[in-house]
Amino acid sequence: MIQTEEQRIVDAAIATRRSVRAFLPTPVAREDIEAILDVAARAPSGTNTQPWKAYVLTGQSKAKLSQAILDVYADPAKLNQHSEEYNYYPRQWVSPYIDRRRKVGWDLYALLGLTRENKPGMHAQHARNYTFFDAPVGLIFTMDRIMEQGAWLDYGMFLQNVMVAARGRGLDTCPQAAFTQFHKVIGEVLGIPTDERLVCGMSLGFADTNKVENTLTTEREPVSGFAKFLD
Ligand SMILES: Cc1cc2nc3c(=O)[nH]c(=O)nc-3n(C[C@H](O)[C@H](O)[C@H](O)COP(=O)(O)O)c2cc1C
Repeated sequence: MIQTEEQRIVDAAIATRRSVRAFLPTPVAREDIEAILDVAARAPSGTNTQPWKAYVLTGQSKAKLSQAILDVYADPAKLNQHSEEYNYYPRQWVSPYIDRRRKVGWDLYALLGLTRENKPGMHAQHARNYTFFDAPVGLIFTMDRIMEQGAWLDYGMFLQNVMVAARGRGLDTCPQAAFTQFHKVIGEVLGIPTDERLVCGMSLGFADTNKVENTLTTEREPVSGFAKFLD
């Protein structure tokens, strides 16, 4: 099949997106962040409702949020009082989802030399979520509570656009549900109105290609595994 230039560029932006978990301190220009959000907002949404809202954190605001979450994360008594507001994952895990979840988790931990017994090591690695894996930009996404399930579809399209638009600029991302557990802390520190629900966070910056966690390659089912062509 002949590939056009457009196909190549679009496919490359999609296929080179991956979750990066170590970033360089190199800053991202404000106009680049704005341009990424601007083009991402071209995402479709039911009746053009555009449910997305973004808090863009850099410098002090990012450091302040990270510290507030890490303070809680490091203290089991405090940590106990924080839980997710919505179920991102199924309540009951079944195959093949549990197998895929385990594989990516253990592949990452194996790269980092973390064994099952090394609970403090895994705890510390998970904590890296809250410094946005050292990315210079932390994004916190929210949505009005009044929005229903359809808006979550719209939101996913917007988030994917953010990540693909970042690739077009040589930037990388990591979408992060890890923040949802700390919606109360985040709401307080950022002054988020109570009628907004935390959707997720995202790290944005330039990948540190020397870090082993960024060598993780994740698998996908082939098309024949998830699509039925009905003639
Ligand atoms: C909404 C969403 C939330 C995620 N939350 C986290 C997270 O909190 N921490 C993390 O390290 N990765 C997180 N991931 C990344 C997934 O683990 C990753 O997308 C998956 O393993 C496939 O790998 P890839 O993104 O490199 O293709 C999240 C992904 C999505 C889409």
